[in-house]
Amino acid sequence: MKWIVMTLAGLLACSAALADDWRREGSDAEKLEQLIRAMPNTAALMLQVGDRYNNLYWAARQGQWEYAGYQLAEMQGVLRRNMVTRPGRAEDLQAFMDDGFEGMEAAIEARNDELFLRAFEHMRGQCMACHAASGYEFIRLPAQPPRPDNPALYE
Ligand code: HEC
Repeated sequence: MKWIVMTLAGLLACSAALADDWRREGSDAEKLEQLIRAMPNTAALMLQVGDRYNNLYWAARQGQWEYAGYQLAEMQGVLRRNMVTRPGRAEDLQAFMDDGFEGMEAAIEARNDELFLRAFEHMRGQCMACHAASGYEFIRLPAQPPRPDNPALYE
């Protein structure tokens, strides 16, 4: 009988611990587990990548080359973060980092529309190739993205 009471007490303590604020009350192991769980997944990070994709396109189309370079760098930062939070995708993401941005930096540096559009189309193809390889071939990207709701990109 005693062990049943102890088990019940243990269960109660357990559910009480879950209701507490794990950031203050949790053990180190629990904190670590919750932090790992809270890391942004690919779907969340890809929304950011998608925004940067739109911004990059429109920044370049409007001749805001410095801003385009910023969008590119931020997009690469998000992809690198994705490699950390989802190690299972790291290899595919690295392959994209190695090949997907071919010609992009040079186009932005040269402030050249034609080179940019070529690099952007190449990038778009590589983005969608990874979607297809990951089982998300239905996630397609527009060749001409919608104009973002971004004050920096108003004409
Ligand atoms: C590692 C392969 C990979 C690469 C490279 C990649 N994606 Fe993705 N992307 C995914 C996966 C996987 C999903 C679906 C994630 C999920 O729902 O779990 C996704 C989803 C998306 C979504 C949809 C998000 C949503 O919830 O509606 C957008 C937009 C997106 N990616 C944009 C891009 C763009 C732009 C690029 C290139 C600059 C890119 N992706 C490169 C794997 C990739």
